[in-house]
Amino acid sequence: MSNKFVWTNEYSVNVAEIDEQHKEFINIINSLLELEERESFTDEEALMKVSKLGDYAFYHLATEEDLFVKTGYKDAPEHVSVHDMFREKAKDFGDWIRDKNVDKKEVLKEIAEFTGDWLMKHILIMDKKYTEFFNEKGVK
Ligand SMILES: [Fe+2]
Ligand SMILES: [Fe+2]
Repeated sequence: MSNKFVWTNEYSVNVAEIDEQHKEFINIINSLLELEERESFTDEEALMKVSKLGDYAFYHLATEEDLFVKTGYKDAPEHVSVHDMFREKAKDFGDWIRDKNVDKKEVLKEIAEFTGDWLMKHILIMDKKYTEFFNEKGVK
């Protein structure tokens, strides 16, 4: 039984759209752990979950980066380079889960835990840095 990731107020960046996306992102990560805990699941189900997670991750990072451009956020280059490191890793998730020689349960768990650990830390360390600037620009 894996521990699920939980969004609490501590994770709020005080921008409604972004908080909603973080919550949805966490739900998707947890849904990989729920699948992994099931008695059985098909390769297709595993692939669908991983694709959904990858797509949502890319969508979320792009949403933040669009806001950086719209608001002229000066710390964007550093923040985007941290997103890029995650993208570099996440682009291989699909190949990893399609691999016939891996234990799908293990891979689902590793992808979910890697992504969840990354996201929770990233929100606290990087995302929360833009709160004040975004709020000043009327993004809240
Ligand atoms: Fe974020
Ligand atoms: Fe971010």
